[in-house]
Amino acid sequence: MNHYTNNARANGRTPYIVGIGGTTRPGSSTETALRVALAHAAELGARTELFGGAALAALPGYNPEQPERTEGQRALVEAVRRADAVIFASPGYHGGVSGLVKNAIDLLEDLRADERVYLDGMPVGCIVTAAGWQGCNTTLGAMRSIVHALRGWPTPMGVTLNTAGVRLFDGDGQCLEPQVTSSLRLLAEQVVGVRSPVTTA
Ligand SMILES: Cc1cc2nc3c(=O)[nH]c(=O)nc-3n(C[C@H](O)[C@H](O)[C@H](O)COP(=O)(O)O)c2cc1C
Repeated sequence: MNHYTNNARANGRTPYIVGIGGTTRPGSSTETALRVALAHAAELGARTELFGGAALAALPGYNPEQPERTEGQRALVEAVRRADAVIFASPGYHGGVSGLVKNAIDLLEDLRADERVYLDGMPVGCIVTAAGWQGCNTTLGAMRSIVHALRGWPTPMGVTLNTAGVRLFDGDGQCLEPQVTSSLRLLAEQVVGVRSPVTTA
């Protein structure tokens, strides 16, 4: 068993996977990709919860001097506290993780004094969209550095989606590109800690 292997499965529990990401844009490709990955995690037997663009936009700007928490902030921190694995999904904004997603991640500072500090030992899937491969690559690297800082284990599969000039998802959130579907499914398998025989990527 690899060190980052999902502990829930190793202990015979249903894995609980928390997805954090997206943008406020209607039909956000970032959030849609995250939903596809979470749906596959659910197919593999995981319980999943999504904190998408709307939930992240409702979070106040993180302020380390302010100990009071809104209901939305508490829900996100509690979800990650109970999670067996996490998936982050961000657009590349100016070459890095968007402020919306980073604001949610900064809130995980509330886990610093937990028995399991931050994301210690957890598999963390990283999904990035950007309007070009350069933004995809720099943002994935930045996101993985954030996961390392939080003591998490970025899964071997990190998914980058170049959204420039292509329609990757239909109006129902179904993925139109088989290779993207395969990549998101493989990422889901790695956070849940199970291999699906149908994945070919
Ligand atoms: C403020 C802003 C900054 C952006 N910066 C970059 C960038 O540096 N590199 C890039 O490739 N795309 C950049 N983009 C494009 C987005 O990353 C891309 O359109 C992304 O897929 C949007 O995700 P969404 O469909 O979930 O809204 C930027 C978009 C915005 C709004």
